[in-house]
Amino acid sequence: MSTLPKYQQNQQTITFDYPHRPLQLSILTPSIIRVFANRGETGQSYAIEGDKQQPTDYDLTVVAHQYVLTTSDLTVKLDADGHVDVYDAAGHALITDFRGERHLLDKGVDKVHQKLVEAEGHSVTDVTIDDHASYYQVVKELATDEHLYGLGDKTGYLDKRGFEYDNWNVDYPDPQLEILPNIYKSIPVLLGLKNGHPYGLFFDNPYKSHLDLGKESDHYYFYSAVAGNLDYYILGGATLKAIVTNYTYLTGRTPLPQKWTLGYQQSRWGYSASQNEVQAIADNLREKDLPCDAIHFDVDYMRGYRVFTWDRAKYADPAKFVAHLKQQGFKVIPIIDPGVKQDPDYAIYQAGLQHDYFVKTPAGETYINKVWPGNSAFPDFGRPAVRHWWAQNTKILTDTGVAGIWNDMNEPASFDGEIPLDTVFSDQNTPATHQKMHNVYGHNMAQATYAGLKEHQGTRPFVITRAAYAGTQKYSTVWTGDNRSMWPHLQMMIPQLCNLGLSGFSFAGTDIGGFASDSSAELLTRWIEAAIFSPLLRNHAAMGTRHQEPWSFGEPTLSIYRRYLKLRYRFIPFLYDLFADETQTGLPIMRPLVLNYPDDQRVRDLNDEFMVGDSLLVAPIVQKSQTKRLVYLPAGDWIDFWNNQEYRGKQDVVVDAPLDKLPLFVKKGTVLPWGPAVSYISDEPDTTMTFKLYGNTTSYQHYQDNGTDFAYQDGHYNRYTISVTDGQVQVHLTHHGFEPVYQTVQLDLADHQLLLHYDAATASYQA
Ligand code: GLC
Repeated sequence: MSTLPKYQQNQQTITFDYPHRPLQLSILTPSIIRVFANRGETGQSYAIEGDKQQPTDYDLTVVAHQYVLTTSDLTVKLDADGHVDVYDAAGHALITDFRGERHLLDKGVDKVHQKLVEAEGHSVTDVTIDDHASYYQVVKELATDEHLYGLGDKTGYLDKRGFEYDNWNVDYPDPQLEILPNIYKSIPVLLGLKNGHPYGLFFDNPYKSHLDLGKESDHYYFYSAVAGNLDYYILGGATLKAIVTNYTYLTGRTPLPQKWTLGYQQSRWGYSASQNEVQAIADNLREKDLPCDAIHFDVDYMRGYRVFTWDRAKYADPAKFVAHLKQQGFKVIPIIDPGVKQDPDYAIYQAGLQHDYFVKTPAGETYINKVWPGNSAFPDFGRPAVRHWWAQNTKILTDTGVAGIWNDMNEPASFDGEIPLDTVFSDQNTPATHQKMHNVYGHNMAQATYAGLKEHQGTRPFVITRAAYAGTQKYSTVWTGDNRSMWPHLQMMIPQLCNLGLSGFSFAGTDIGGFASDSSAELLTRWIEAAIFSPLLRNHAAMGTRHQEPWSFGEPTLSIYRRYLKLRYRFIPFLYDLFADETQTGLPIMRPLVLNYPDDQRVRDLNDEFMVGDSLLVAPIVQKSQTKRLVYLPAGDWIDFWNNQEYRGKQDVVVDAPLDKLPLFVKKGTVLPWGPAVSYISDEPDTTMTFKLYGNTTSYQHYQDNGTDFAYQDGHYNRYTISVTDGQVQVHLTHHGFEPVYQTVQLDLADHQLLLHYDAATASYQA
């Protein structure tokens, strides 16, 4: 038996001198431990900012030929061979190294036959192990009862077990089905439930990586990377929620959004080709009484797809037009792509060239590939100076009054083949490669955009990005890219947004109605119903597809669509409360049931229901022609939102769901803020608020601020506690930092209403 290596201890970092390569454990908090082996890479994390280490007590002992490191939440054991095994405080195994060899899948094909299969257009995925010196893999044991979640936007199901994924941001046109290993984002965080015990694993390496989650074998899962340091974080915590809280402590949380960003948003590639068309969309939304807060301007508003320009032939006075839309209650969100048109007469291109802001070929020339404007150069967003430049460019847009920026094509996408891996990109101020910086390109672009908006607007920046890395949630909301108008993509919305939420991305949405292909009346209807609680609520479609504005299919689609938009606006104060909580806990708005009920076996891979916070259960219809469905209700008592019928939990119930009905249940013991009926979120503060009460005993924290800027960080917000005890309701203003406080509070109980008035003298609410 080999002997344990020597080690050095430097406060909370211990370096174990394994002969092949030292292994470092750093204790950040009692529940976050970093495992690191230097494989020659330099540079800092893009996901984690600032020092996350807290003074933490730990023990290091030797027991039975193993080093045993213990914090109050985690135990890590290291043996002489370098195996790393992690246990929770009670000694349950969480993450343990697999001791055997990997057994490659036998795909039953030799090279000759592989060619034949490929000749017909099928692909045979490679099952050999990369033998480059920089390649490494980490193989962990898989228990019979083990479920895996997270990984951001990956396609497929809630439980990722049994599938394999790549972390390499791509813009593929293929339908995003469960067989696709990667789409636009790389968020390599796994949340596991091993025999019911929760853990997290975050692999912080921007290089291309692969995760096989029990597809190759039922006995192990593995992470492999083509290069980079071994750098992963063990996340412990008593519950799955605590794991999410710890992960978002590490990589950051979605900041409090502006309130109007929770409103409905209308988009289509092509609208902005004509000011008249945009105006017609705006007028239609108002005339048809469809609440809406924003209209998105896709690439057509630009002059020949030159970023940070307006086509003056289409928009004589962009600022005036934007102001006009604002008067109608619409914010404008223009798209910005990274590709800068190669045009010597274009200021942005000139500036980029002059200051050397673009990525380069290894020979030192500006690297050119094609995107919308044709030949384009790509800003080197890894460099602080380039991010600063980009942030300054956003002023061109904010000066016209736009309310946010939508970042697209930032994987980065390119039409003329992939950008070669050796193209010179920077890692901060150090020359690096495309291979290293690819997965953080969108992240850095989003960060620059956020900084620009913050500086020029002073309000909470609204950025939407397609590409992202772990931690991008600090700067940007996301949408899931180019889905299609087809039922499987409506179905996938649920697990995809839930897994994004578990991965720190609380503010996310899909293109409602489907982006590519032609939508239908039924699909659009079911999509707006199912998506009505999705934090980002945007209908978007590709140019050349059948129109899918709410009125495009006539009745009854229009009326149903309107009804759900109106419902959404009623829920905005509730969603806003959830965001206020999320900034403290990292817990997502839209949640898989497993997050709230991790001990319930029934919900561990439940793909057609989700929860909003802890108190709403949504069971949309996501099957064509279905008008009835089975709904699983977990523990507790549940009240049908539409008819107040009560159900005991831990059972399946059959509910009717004709085309106009979204099955929706409220957990008994809920206080639900109920916003006013409005066509858009105005800057006028609410002076009254309604709360619907479900059940006789409960309490609730409600948050209020100006909904726009950062004043809340200086205490300018109100907090109210609504407590119900045996049907008796009390409202307390527990933090008073924002004016005006609600002058009246209406409480809707099961059989009566109560109106309370604010008494400024006693700062209390009275009947
Ligand atoms: C990409 C985006 C899509 C956008 C289109 C044109 O496909 O994902 O949302 O409409 O580009 O800019």
